[in-house]
Amino acid sequence: SAIGLGLLTATLRPNTCSSSYSPGSPGGSHFEYIITDKKGKNHNVGLIQLNRPKALNALCDGLITELNQALEAFEKDPAVGAIVLTGGEKAFAAGADIKEMQNQRFQDCYSTGFLSHWDHITRVKKPVIAAVNGYALGGGCELAMMCDIIYAGEKAQFAQPEILLGTIPGAGGTQRLTRAVGKSLAMEMVLTGDRISAQEAKEAGLVSKIFPVEKLVDEAIRCAEKIASNSKIISAMAKESVNAAFEMTLTEGNKLEKKLFYSTFATDDRKEGMTAFVEKRKANFKDQ
Ligand code: HXC
Repeated sequence: SAIGLGLLTATLRPNTCSSSYSPGSPGGSHFEYIITDKKGKNHNVGLIQLNRPKALNALCDGLITELNQALEAFEKDPAVGAIVLTGGEKAFAAGADIKEMQNQRFQDCYSTGFLSHWDHITRVKKPVIAAVNGYALGGGCELAMMCDIIYAGEKAQFAQPEILLGTIPGAGGTQRLTRAVGKSLAMEMVLTGDRISAQEAKEAGLVSKIFPVEKLVDEAIRCAEKIASNSKIISAMAKESVNAAFEMTLTEGNKLEKKLFYSTFATDDRKEGMTAFVEKRKANFKDQ
């Protein structure tokens, strides 16, 4: 498989993030830090595998740049209805690249907007599922939390260990984790750096399902295929509406939901979905 091949070739590379990185094509073969593929029936699922195993997928600048390019390519691909983001068996991602950050000064961070391109994934309209095996630490946990759904492998571990490095989460960890698991556990994780297991993450509401390590990616693809079989435009509206729950008051959010609900009546797919039900047949959505 593309994933297996990628892991083999990756072992030949150094684990430092090269500054002479050259952008790859969305076909996948030219990326340096990720592997992309299309899976599912009609190739309707975009798969992105973080592939910098020697550094446990530490999220260096080049990796995030490639990730954003791959996300954009899948976002524009009319065949793709959902995206799966995964890493390796040992690590989804062990965080921001500490070696890249080590000598940064405040002035550098502030004036260059350090790490400001990390949240591109939150602006992708197509649903994104994070399939987390192994470590999801610091920026790795934050990246997973920027996705729409998190599935975890049985051995996954989540943490925000920035405090142990003398810093704090900087890509939404204090905000998204708190919203996902509540104040006490979020505060405990952010202040101690302690890891939680897949099981604890599920109990706390951070992940929706747990699978055996080797089944995780297939299960995430299966969920993505299910999503991709629905109307893309309606899925985007549903995603927008759920995400509004994190940004708005209940009254404002319900108002937005109602507007989006009414908007579905401007689409052919809404008419097709209800007509198919009445005619006792499967809906044939055209993303219109
Ligand atoms: C750079 C990293 C790295 C990281 C691991 N490596 N994590 N390099 N940045 N975040 C490198 C190691 O230096 C090492 O390279 C190789 O990957 C293998 O790691 P080991 O430590 O030897 O593996 P192991 O003993 O199995 O320990 C695994 C680990 C540990 C527990 C995950 O690597 C670890 O604690 N990593 C750091 C986790 C962390 O603090 N993450 C938060 C980062 S801060 P060499 O060259 O020695 O072989 C952050 C801030 C985000 O994310 C802020 C906003 C975006």
